[in-house]
Amino acid sequence: MHLFLLLILQLPAANGQIDPEHCRYALGMEDGRISDEDLTASSRWYETTGPQYARLNCEGGDGAWCPEGQLEPSDSQYLQIDLRRLAFLTLFGTQGRYARGLGKEFAREYRLNYSRDGQLWKSWKDRLGKEVLEGNKNTYGVFSNDLKPPIIARYVRVIPVTRLSTTVCMRVELYGCPWEDGLVSYSAPEGQLMMLPSYPHISLNDSTYDGVRDKRKLSGGLGQLTDGVTGQDNFLKTRQYKVWLGYDYLGWRNDTPGTRGYVEMEFVFDRLRNFTSMKVHSNNMFSRGVKIFSSVSCWFKPYLTASWEPEAVSFSTILDDRNPSARYVTVPLNHRTARSIRCRFYYADVWMMFSEVSFQSAAAPSASSTSDEGNTPILIGCLVTIILLLVIIIFLILWCQCVCKVLEKAPRQILDEEVTVRLSSCSDTIILQTPPVPPRSRHPPTGPTNTDPYYERVFLLDPQYQNPAMLRNKLPELSQSAEASACGGGYAEPDITQCTPHQSFNNSAPHYAETDIVRLQGVTGSNMYAVPALTVDSLTRKDISAAEFPRHQLIFREKLGEGQFGEVHLCEAEGLPEFLGEGSPLPDRDGRSVLVAVKQLRADATGQARNDFLKEIKIMSRLDDPNIIRLLCVCVSSDPLCMVTEYMENGDLNMFLSQREIESTLTHANNIPSVSLSDLLHMAVQISSGMKYLASLNFVHRDLATRNCLLDRRLTIKIADFGMSRNLYSSDYYRIQGRAVLPIRWMAWESILLGKFTTASDVWAFGVTLWEIFTLCKEQPYSLLSDEQVIENSGEFFRNQGRQIFLYAPPLCPPSLFELMMRCWSRNITDRPTFEGLYQALRPHVNQ
Ligand SMILES: *[C@@H]1O[C@H](CO)[C@@H](O)[C@H](O)[C@H]1NC(C)=O
Ligand SMILES: *[C@@H]1O[C@H](CO)[C@@H](O)[C@H](O)[C@H]1NC(C)=O
Ligand SMILES: *[C@@H]1O[C@H](CO)[C@@H](O)[C@H](O)[C@H]1NC(C)=O
Repeated sequence: MHLFLLLILQLPAANGQIDPEHCRYALGMEDGRISDEDLTASSRWYETTGPQYARLNCEGGDGAWCPEGQLEPSDSQYLQIDLRRLAFLTLFGTQGRYARGLGKEFAREYRLNYSRDGQLWKSWKDRLGKEVLEGNKNTYGVFSNDLKPPIIARYVRVIPVTRLSTTVCMRVELYGCPWEDGLVSYSAPEGQLMMLPSYPHISLNDSTYDGVRDKRKLSGGLGQLTDGVTGQDNFLKTRQYKVWLGYDYLGWRNDTPGTRGYVEMEFVFDRLRNFTSMKVHSNNMFSRGVKIFSSVSCWFKPYLTASWEPEAVSFSTILDDRNPSARYVTVPLNHRTARSIRCRFYYADVWMMFSEVSFQSAAAPSASSTSDEGNTPILIGCLVTIILLLVIIIFLILWCQCVCKVLEKAPRQILDEEVTVRLSSCSDTIILQTPPVPPRSRHPPTGPTNTDPYYERVFLLDPQYQNPAMLRNKLPELSQSAEASACGGGYAEPDITQCTPHQSFNNSAPHYAETDIVRLQGVTGSNMYAVPALTVDSLTRKDISAAEFPRHQLIFREKLGEGQFGEVHLCEAEGLPEFLGEGSPLPDRDGRSVLVAVKQLRADATGQARNDFLKEIKIMSRLDDPNIIRLLCVCVSSDPLCMVTEYMENGDLNMFLSQREIESTLTHANNIPSVSLSDLLHMAVQISSGMKYLASLNFVHRDLATRNCLLDRRLTIKIADFGMSRNLYSSDYYRIQGRAVLPIRWMAWESILLGKFTTASDVWAFGVTLWEIFTLCKEQPYSLLSDEQVIENSGEFFRNQGRQIFLYAPPLCPPSLFELMMRCWSRNITDRPTFEGLYQALRPHVNQ
């Protein structure tokens, strides 16, 4: 029942204000919910490039909307989209005309105009006043811009911008959610300047207001009070960068002439509405003379030209001198119906500061005569929901018991190459399945739109997730969602998601594959190849085919990394060529000494770790392939145990690529280190070849990634496995309780959810590695998703309802190759290519 409580606790959160981080649903260009007749344009070049073809990722007509003729820098051609209702737009995606490779046109830049009524058009500006948005760089990639501030509008015009005369074509998608508030404008006195000793002036103005500013009064627009960004407890701190102090708040001072102890605001709505409440996010930093309002009175009118109804709704707040947090103050509006509301907020102190105002209302009433007890319907709704949830949970538990039985047999049916770690069995886990926890949206929990599949959720693409400072702010929330998603919260449908009991997340009980991974990870934190049937209970020296090297001839150069039980050093091995004798293929070398990587077991390592280490040596010594790192020799006659493997001077592929650009005349002219496309393909072929070899021996690598591919001067690649032991790449691994680490961004869904590692999951990782190569390792896979979201995404892969997020097509990557990557990420193992197949498919590319 633990989870059940958790759900109930989450419900109120769903009944909040708009949350721009979750309001990111595609609004229907791609999937056709926006109909052709709602798409218009200033012009079209041909019938086949009309506005109805401006749909993202669609190839109808000639593949995009193109305005007529050459676009000149002074032109303002536009594509207009009517959303049929007000929407809160947070993201805008564009794409050029691909037309199966025939298209050449795309817009490098564009502007957006928007309108709430179809008459008055406004141009969008970002928070720093910039109007032009970055567009596309090629004909097929999708580029998305976060709209900050968001747009609240029904009509949007996309206006391609060019600096030179050129032809442009565009495909677009809008992302956001319905604007349920229905607020179309508010008016208020302009915010004021606050003077504090030793601070620059603190400007509490409404900097994104899109209406009229006249004589210090704002009217006819929306702005910071509806941008979804709430201010912080300390109003001097802002959530935006490069802005001034006090940016998030609109604030007014009590004792300026003309104020009569209150601030008056007027709100206009799209239609007649029946209001439940108003929420005002207000600062309460009383140490600086800021408090929430002491009381508020609101008047209503049913249509805009009517006069105010005499009866007001008044509400007094409970002032709070203890807690200085900023907060939402909820003002009940007693189900009054209105098209427009005027409220007077009375000061409780010298200053009053608001950062958000939102309204909870239902659309115009149809004169129903139900009782006036405000909370009854909500209560009934909650009860019904609870009962429904209970029924679903009971059903799922019953259903699951059945599935568990199937599961015990399932692996053999699902996975052809059966090399799995032991799963925690059903009997010692509680399976928790819940109905989908809705993204925090503005819908009340009982509302019909709550489970509305109408809007597909788009995952966060928010750059703030890349900003460590912002992330830290979110940490408490993140850790909660980690628990929730690890224990069923994120995995909605009845499925084979397995989960340990909730408490176990906080103590030492194992979490999915953790036990095995920790064990395999063994020595240096590097879980070298997991091998099927290799029982090494009594490993002896004669099992190890590698020769013993004199320890004193290893000269320490630098530490490459360390793990739980050991360290990896870069060493020079003196006299190694002679030691190994003729015919031993050694990496590049200059002179007598050779660079080697030395994995060393700590002297105090446990017996288990020692055994694993020997096991790893045994496995390694069986591997012999030009694209797999070779075990050269060992030092096992005395402690500490060492294994000596090849190391290559160019370091790892990740480092190598991330320091390079793609070859072009520019890189030649400026002597920038570069690689060519054919170099990249050559790398891909070599990795597939090495993996093909491992697969032929039924070895599962488990951590294929560019950071684990080493490179010599002739760009020969050898697959190794140091990743986890290197601090440099620690962000690539997901840490469970600070112990087990998992490269989740490279892991197949079944590895994340079920702890299954097979050659097919290596194929998945190979796809991600290819992706890294073709993005020149400039970006972490799914860099915009948090670890928890990556795990959540693997749940989407399992469910396979089209909501999973794939890595995007890297601009450098030929489409056929991207198709190959996509096949590596097939949900079903049998749909994924084999390494043999990948090798065969990649090899022809190299000689093109
Ligand atoms: C965009 O809006 C601005 C007003 O902000 C207006 O001057 C301009 O003409 C509009 N452009 C289009 C194409 O609607
Ligand atoms: C708001 O105040 C800031 C800082 O004083 C100023 O730069 C900005 O122009 C003001 N914005 C408006 C719209 O008045
Ligand atoms: C507003 O809605 C509530 C319930 O949602 C209802 O009881 C009330 O009668 C409605 N008010 C009007 C004026 O229709």
